[in-house]
Amino acid sequence: MTPLHQVIKEKNTKINPVWIMRQAGRYLPEFMTIRKLNPNFINLCLNEELSSEITLQPLKRFNLDAAIIFSDILMLPYGLNQEVKFVKGFGPKLGKVNINEMSKLDEVDFVQKINPVYKAIRKVSENSLLKNKNTIGFVGAPWTLLVYIINQQSPKKNLKKDFFKDDFLINRTLLILEKFLKLHIKNQIDNGADVIQIFDSWAGLLEEKDLPNYVYSPTLNLVNYVKSLNTPVICFPREIKNYKKFCNIVNPDAVSIDYNIDPKKILNDINIPIQGGLDPKILLTDKETIKKKATRYLDIFKDHPYIFNLGHGVLPETDPNMFEYMVNTVKNY
Ligand code: CP3
Repeated sequence: MTPLHQVIKEKNTKINPVWIMRQAGRYLPEFMTIRKLNPNFINLCLNEELSSEITLQPLKRFNLDAAIIFSDILMLPYGLNQEVKFVKGFGPKLGKVNINEMSKLDEVDFVQKINPVYKAIRKVSENSLLKNKNTIGFVGAPWTLLVYIINQQSPKKNLKKDFFKDDFLINRTLLILEKFLKLHIKNQIDNGADVIQIFDSWAGLLEEKDLPNYVYSPTLNLVNYVKSLNTPVICFPREIKNYKKFCNIVNPDAVSIDYNIDPKKILNDINIPIQGGLDPKILLTDKETIKKKATRYLDIFKDHPYIFNLGHGVLPETDPNMFEYMVNTVKNY
């Protein structure tokens, strides 16, 4: 069994598998070489030769236990025919949602439109670099995708005031998202993804009273769906205040924690396997600090099933040598 599966399924506490969010990305010069020649990010995600190559880049350099497929959570609204662009220095920009068009969209057309993502997953999972390692598929959680679809860009700190104004639009969108997220997950698994991570990057924007409607309930549906396909599912409800309650209700196979979470407290609060936590900014310091901070997480979770990762994606300004030092620190622990 792969190290990740041993931790998640067998609750093995003797090993610490490691993979890193955004491990394939802008801090790697070999990625930037490809990126510069491919200014259109969506087209890059839809190029199965290049996206599989990018996915494998960090595995060629570092002693990682999993590949996460080079794609984006916004490939889903793109597949739903919403316009999605990545603007340099600004981030994602989405077009106006056409809910009637979206409601009529055929599943075959959706799969056709983003099919290269699945082909890339197949290529990666069949590569010899993945021997005894996992291929991680992923989706955005319904709430986080709803935020992008309605807000049309990353929210800064708050949602726009009239975000919840159109109940009909919100509820219809959530239903459409549930249907196509299941399809997207199923296709990733059918093509070789053997772990699914659900990114809820904007869970922290909601007040407690809105979590059941927008986070717990739609995420629970997806988690149960992934479980029904016999595939482990990791949830990352970033910046949610109460991880304990989230885990009690949603009960994923593992939970990824952000860097605001006190690891000692979460250890007492949560029984399921834990992933991540270390602040990505630590990688911008020095070796001594990296060793100290990474070791702290490993010490705290030494008797708890734990997958090493960061508390959010690796920053573009990270030195790959520091990344390597962190991975080796975990491996030599
Ligand atoms: O982790 C991985 O290496 C896998 C690939 C991956 C990407 N995006 C590639 C990417 C994953 C898992 C994501 C998820 C994603 N995308 C999330 C959830 C995780 C999180 O960060 O909270 C979100 C919110 C998005 C939406 C998105 N995509 C944003 C906000 C941005 C940043 C835009 C910018 O200009 O900084 C992206 C772009 C993106 N997705 C990049 C990568 C490598 C950078 C694109 C580039 O090269 O310019």
